[in-house]
Amino acid sequence: MTVHIGPLTAAHAGEVMTIQRAAYLQEARRYGAWDLPPLVETLAEIRAHLTDGTPAFGAFDGPRLVGSVRSRVDGDRMEVARLSVAPDVQGGGVGRRLLAAISEGAPEAVDTVWLFTGAESDGNIRFYESAGFVRVSEHLDAVGIRCVTLEQKVI
Ligand SMILES: CC(C)(COP(=O)(O)OP(=O)(O)OC[C@H]1O[C@@H](n2cnc3c(N)ncnc32)[C@H](O)[C@@H]1OP(=O)(O)O)[C@@H](O)C(=O)NCCC(=O)NCCS
Repeated sequence: MTVHIGPLTAAHAGEVMTIQRAAYLQEARRYGAWDLPPLVETLAEIRAHLTDGTPAFGAFDGPRLVGSVRSRVDGDRMEVARLSVAPDVQGGGVGRRLLAAISEGAPEAVDTVWLFTGAESDGNIRFYESAGFVRVSEHLDAVGIRCVTLEQKVI
């Protein structure tokens, strides 16, 4: 499989929704929480995010979108959001490449890239730590799930 990473546009919104729902279903099962924000985000919300000018990248196997990631920028900080890889493609390095692409695509003013994940999602935490992110804090999200925030300085 030859995967290339490229920018996402509003035209990808439908495929992004499909990948995201398939990928986050495993997190929903882990926590017994079926209303996680990535699962209930609407097509219109995804389309709006993809047109707001913040970095967003897709992983493409030929014409097929197999992974996606978006971001939110606030001054010198950028949140990595909705990192998703199609279930049949996970474990092949696509997530790592998307994470690198979004970090490298951060606007000039950004000096810290951060994200959060579920505190019981050991695999995700190992994945981010192996990419150089460090744990900075914990919080409870809106539905009571304990989450860990990790961040990385942009060089
Ligand atoms: C988390 C996710 C984006 C990782 O993408 P991926 O393409 O499967 O990850 P990669 O293949 O690039 O993994 C890179 C490394 O992390 C490890 N890793 C990734 N996910 C892992 C997991 N769940 N458990 C254990 N190890 C994991 C891989 O084994 C690999 O290690 P290696 O380089 O030593 O072989 C993907 O599994 C996914 O979409 N998960 C569901 C949605 C989700 O939880 N998103 C993140 C929310 S914060």
